[in-house]
Amino acid sequence: MNFIPISQPSITQKEIDYVTDAVKSGWVSSLGKYIDIFEEKFAEFVGTRYAVTASNGTAALHLAVVAHDIGPGDEVIIPDLTFIATANAVQYTGATVVCVDVDKDSLCIDPRKVEEAITDRTRAIIPVHVYGHPADMVSLRRIAQQHGLVVIEDAAESHGAEVLGKRAGSLGNCGIFSFYGNKIITSGEGGMITTDDQALYERLKVFRDHAMSKERRYWHELVGFNYRMTNLQAALGVAQLERIDELLERKREIFHIYQRLLSGYPGLRLNREAPWAKNVYWMVCLEVEGFSGERRDAFMEQLKQRDIDSRPYFYPVSDMPMYVDADTPVSHELHQRGINLPSYFDLDDASIEYICENIIAILDEG
Ligand SMILES: Cc1ncc(COP(=O)(O)O)c(C=O)c1O
Repeated sequence: MNFIPISQPSITQKEIDYVTDAVKSGWVSSLGKYIDIFEEKFAEFVGTRYAVTASNGTAALHLAVVAHDIGPGDEVIIPDLTFIATANAVQYTGATVVCVDVDKDSLCIDPRKVEEAITDRTRAIIPVHVYGHPADMVSLRRIAQQHGLVVIEDAAESHGAEVLGKRAGSLGNCGIFSFYGNKIITSGEGGMITTDDQALYERLKVFRDHAMSKERRYWHELVGFNYRMTNLQAALGVAQLERIDELLERKREIFHIYQRLLSGYPGLRLNREAPWAKNVYWMVCLEVEGFSGERRDAFMEQLKQRDIDSRPYFYPVSDMPMYVDADTPVSHELHQRGINLPSYFDLDDASIEYICENIIAILDEG
């Protein structure tokens, strides 16, 4: 068996043709037809009026926070179990990151804990739809409304996920996505912000492009950023977006094969799906009862010796030295026992069987 990586993009002739067309057109920077098509078609896919491309998902998040005028003195609530970019994008603005524990089933932020963390300085909540499962947006929106808070969905890992039939990215004031190479669709590096709010849309575009005055070229009254996506990246993104249905369908199939082969084994838990949710299974999640961090690392090493790549669940953000400690027992426990398994489009059924046989063999050895 060849080494099985944790992820790899699915590149077909379509992706090659669109990127080649973009290069040949001479529109290699941030103007060009693929940028416009990507924004229009992605907004259509998510179900929002607007979409704004960005150079990556972290930049998209940073733009979303800045465009809501959030900064020093403000607090922003995020889940403790997420990729560090969620926290960093808040920290860049000078606002304070407040980490809150997650729900053990969805792995997403726990709305009851959010309510406990709200103070008179809280300005926003950033729920993260982690590993493909959407956060409980119905409860979070109700809480946000009661307290006058902004909701920025971090949907970097959940293109196509749904809450009661509505897609991630259309459920808050705005949503952000990543198109990094391991994501559900990729543009190499890339990001997107989706929203129905026209004024926010205009502000996002201004901040993305050095806040240049619309009336006077090279005149700037705010400090903006260069967070533009290139037409080359957008060409790759458009090709991937045209294939998103088949990419999402294979993700579900892959998860169901893992589920069939592993769910009978005692002490193992795979991804869940709440009754109100559509999980897109960006990454297959495996939690092993009783695992400590050390035992998990040894298990991952044993998988590697059998040519199977894996990765641990995220560390709790509040454990990082630059963020404030938080009381988050669920995030800590999940980090100890959780790993992600290979879940990419071209992973064939025989490889999934090989992975599952080896997981069981290693666990049986104790
Ligand atoms: C939850 C989450 N938020 C934000 C990001 C940032 O995206 P990017 O890597 O495109 O900057 C990522 C991805 O890597 C992510 O997983």
